[in-house]
Amino acid sequence: MTVGIIGAGNIGGAFATALGKAGIEAVIANSRGPESLTTLVSKLGSTIRAGSLQEAAAQDIVLVAVPWSKIPGALAGLNFDDRIVIDANNSIEAPLYRPADLGGRTSTDIFTALVPGARVVKAFNHLTPKQLSGDPHSEGGGRVLFYSGNDMRAK
Ligand SMILES: NC(=O)c1ccc[n+]([C@@H]2O[C@H](COP(=O)([O-])OP(=O)(O)OC[C@H]3O[C@@H](n4cnc5c(N)ncnc54)[C@H](OP(=O)(O)O)[C@@H]3O)[C@@H](O)[C@H]2O)c1
Repeated sequence: MTVGIIGAGNIGGAFATALGKAGIEAVIANSRGPESLTTLVSKLGSTIRAGSLQEAAAQDIVLVAVPWSKIPGALAGLNFDDRIVIDANNSIEAPLYRPADLGGRTSTDIFTALVPGARVVKAFNHLTPKQLSGDPHSEGGGRVLFYSGNDMRAK
């Protein structure tokens, strides 16, 4: 399976770091284009490369880690038909961290409407970047990853 990452900031970069350490191939993308990611990918190992949003979105599994208000713009025009899309986002945003008004819906319901045809799993949204990229057994612990979604096979 190939992995795409949309958003190359704290969480997208940490996820790419973890994949790179495990030797898993991934394409990472941001809003400014692959050239802006040269320095980041040079630190992540040979399995991680920078690409366009379209390339990242075309992989078998796509993790999206973009600030809440920017998600609609980041996903517009991309095709995710029948692929697994991981929603790593929270509906709060720096610097105020004020919860967004979701109109009574869950954030993942709103996210899912932006990726029609995708099989959405919510995951990786509750770890800090350091926990996500670091050794899961550090400090004598065992890292726990919670995930949820309506598609059993995708989960
Ligand atoms: N930081 C945390 O501790 C943490 C933990 C768990 C979950 N989360 C969630 O993860 C998500 C990302 O947070 P973050 O801290 O990683 O954010 P961040 O460091 O600000 O990075 C955001 C990334 O999104 C990209 N982006 C913004 N607008 C875009 C667009 N229109 N098209 C494509 N890419 C776009 C940015 O690319 P450019 O720089 O090129 O614009 C950047 O690579 C948020 O939903 C947040 O709630 C964060």
